Amino acid sequence: MFLPILFALLFLFSSSNAADFCVGDLYGPQGPAGYSCKKETLVTVNDFVYSGLAAAGNTSNLIKAAVTPAFSAQFPGVNGLGISLARLDLAVGGVVPMHTHPGASELLVVVEGSICAGFISSANKVYFKSLNKGDIMVFPQGLLHFQINAGKTPALAFVSFSNPSPGLQILDFALFGDDLPTDIIQETTFLDVVQIKKLKGVLGGTG
Ligand SMILES: *[C@@H]1O[C@H](CO)[C@@H](O)[C@H](O)[C@H]1NC(C)=O
Repeated sequence: MFLPILFALLFLFSSSNAADFCVGDLYGPQGPAGYSCKKETLVTVNDFVYSGLAAAGNTSNLIKAAVTPAFSAQFPGVNGLGISLARLDLAVGGVVPMHTHPGASELLVVVEGSICAGFISSANKVYFKSLNKGDIMVFPQGLLHFQINAGKTPALAFVSFSNPSPGLQILDFALFGDDLPTDIIQETTFLDVVQIKKLKGVLGGTG
């Protein structure tokens, strides 16, 4: 009668440290709940520190923007903690096109420059504003949102997420950067074929 309880208590106490964190074991598969935990004896302080956001991302690309993630895949220390961070560099004219993070709300803080940011609610109400250094804005989970460099200098922001693996789906790439057939895009978006083909050409889509 008492023995099972004793064992249960022993198990609870012996595993109490492991419950403090669950540094991701990046060699294992990633499921909906994240990575499985790295063996605690192998965990070091370096699992909780990440220097990958120190350097600016490369903005020599179509959108003149770079998102450098510190998600669980890059920074296994956040695995299981419900948080993560990314660095957002926007060159002059840079934009993070309309996108969603299916798994997380987002909090953006402007560190340099000015950024026009906004989101669209499920009721299709639009909320956008020009943000300056020190301003923060929140983007509720799953909603379409965007960021545009609104100034004449490069802009820098950091964005935190309520998920160590927030996911990212960019609307234009989802529509025009894959093999979704042109006629289906036309039927589902009401865009004309010429425009669809043009965007497929720019974004690498086929079909
Ligand atoms: C940035 O990306 C461009 C395009 O891919 C590349 O040509 C360039 O070498 C990269 N610059 C740096 C500093 O990595």
